[in-house]
Amino acid sequence: MTVLSLPRLPATRHRVRRVVGAATRRGLIGLRRRYYCDGSAQAVRHLPGEWRARLGLDDESARGTRRIELGAGPYPHPGYVHVDADPHAAHLEARALAWQLPFPDGWASELLSIHTLEHIHPRRLQETLREWHRVLRPGGVVRVHVPNSPSLMAAYLNAQRPADKWMVSGALLGMYCGPEVQGPADIPAAADHQILFDMELLLAVLGEAGFVDLRDLTSQVVDRHTEPWQHVVDRCSLVIEGRKPGREAVDALG
Ligand SMILES: C[S@@+](CC[C@H](N)C(=O)[O-])C[C@H]1O[C@@H](n2cnc3c(N)ncnc32)[C@H](O)[C@@H]1O
Repeated sequence: MTVLSLPRLPATRHRVRRVVGAATRRGLIGLRRRYYCDGSAQAVRHLPGEWRARLGLDDESARGTRRIELGAGPYPHPGYVHVDADPHAAHLEARALAWQLPFPDGWASELLSIHTLEHIHPRRLQETLREWHRVLRPGGVVRVHVPNSPSLMAAYLNAQRPADKWMVSGALLGMYCGPEVQGPADIPAAADHQILFDMELLLAVLGEAGFVDLRDLTSQVVDRHTEPWQHVVDRCSLVIEGRKPGREAVDALG
């Protein structure tokens, strides 16, 4: 009887490990959120530095911040509260969909999103941008980076070798490949991009969602994608910044 049940143990151990892992991740998200947003969980300060770094509790600049980074994945910027749909994202303080942010109206002073908006289905685009508008305070800043589709399309058309066409089409379609791709065998993932943006479309959709003072910062702002792709496209990311109307009202209050 006991012998028969033995082969099931590794599978059971694996399931238990997964459940414990998920519960720990959920607990850590809550702890980080309390530490960074609510100013509670003060005991964290007494943890050794190495633990704090491993647990994502090492960013003093994020304490009391009202800046949200949406879709940072494995590349969180310090000084922000990070929101992502992926529970494995680094330094995650809230797990949520881009169109359902767990913050009250007018909570945030800034919302930063780098290479995420193009992953949203077009039917969800306005719902998402209006949600970002909702969580921003009057005068709050939204900054969005997306792949520079027009430049990538030009690079595709001008590519002299099939290898370069594979590399550029992987970037356009969101196949999680870098500029080292030489052919189909190097492409690691299925296409994940759902929207191709140029600046005209970015201006239109952010304007439609209610953002004002929209500025094209493409030539002024770089991100982690710019340098590795520089030899393929001058600016790999289109960058737009705008704000929620009403700053005047905030200024008047002091
Ligand atoms: C391509 S990664 C970008 C990561 C990083 N910002 C960068 O520049 O490399 C897109 C990120 O957006 C997140 N994401 C995609 N769709 C989302 C959605 N509907 N709601 C919230 N996050 C989403 C993914 O989990 C992922 O972390």
